[in-house]
Amino acid sequence: MPTEHERIERVLDGVLPPESLAPQRLHRAMRHATLDGGKRLRARLVYATGRLFGLSMTQLDSAAAAVEMIHAYSLIHDDLPAMDDDALRRGKPTVHIAFDEATAILAGDALQALAYETLARAEWPDAAKLAALQELISASGSRGMCGGQQLDMDAGGITLTLEDLQNVHALKTGALIKAAIRLPAIVADADSDARAALDAFADDLGLAFQIQDDILDVEASTEQLGKSAGKDAAQAKATYPALLGLDGAKTLLSELAERMPQHLSEFGERAEALSALAAFAVARRN
Ligand code: IPE
Ligand code: IPE
Ligand code: MG
Ligand code: MG
Ligand code: MG
Repeated sequence: MPTEHERIERVLDGVLPPESLAPQRLHRAMRHATLDGGKRLRARLVYATGRLFGLSMTQLDSAAAAVEMIHAYSLIHDDLPAMDDDALRRGKPTVHIAFDEATAILAGDALQALAYETLARAEWPDAAKLAALQELISASGSRGMCGGQQLDMDAGGITLTLEDLQNVHALKTGALIKAAIRLPAIVADADSDARAALDAFADDLGLAFQIQDDILDVEASTEQLGKSAGKDAAQAKATYPALLGLDGAKTLLSELAERMPQHLSEFGERAEALSALAAFAVARRN
């Protein structure tokens, strides 16, 4: 049995065009950004949420691959000189460094398109597929991840209110995490109580995940992270440690950590894997 990590790697490898296929430079860049790295949190959230409803991993492979491809695309563009200007990602040179800027922009665009195509090919009933596509598309767009990235860029050098900062994090990071959790619920045709509980869990998890990302940017080393540490302060980014101090950010994170499993109580033991991922999101060191 492959581990979950190996499984998602194999699924992504199968979905991504081979390097030998033209245009080879673009396909090499897409594979560079997507394969062989990352914690795969979003794919693991898809599988763990599926377990609540008795869905098999095979039923969820397309959704797991799709969310990881949207994520990989968002990282390529986030690292571009026009945005965070980062040279290191997952312990490797970022796509615009390993290739060039035009290729990085196009690799991101193509990964986004491939994510939707992959989901559109899932072997699910048409109604579920359409609802899942709508979910992933809106989570990625101007009222989801892209909107959050815009707010993040606009907030450089500015002190936001706590409410506004929470909104930036909910959009730039939370929206895709929420989509990863919503897709299996859509496929399983989950009832409204289950969906509401999962949404509440996902909102806390998305925020907790980005708060820990902000904390690690201050506390961890570049080696540990596989991406440049200390960039947020250098670029005067709007972050939780910048607004609340490290201790304030950590206090809020522990409150979220305590609350997250409570949202899952109705699922009983079936929610173990999902609870474990929430614990991982706050305790991780990279
Ligand atoms: C980094 O995400 C960007 C954020 C949304 C905070 P991850 O920390 O999940 O990155 P990988 O996939 O593990 O590299
Ligand atoms: C990135 O947030 C969020 C997205 C890519 C959508 P950050 O800019 O904090 O992520 P890192 O720290 O570069 O991974
Ligand atoms: Mg950024
Ligand atoms: Mg960044
Ligand atoms: Mg960061």
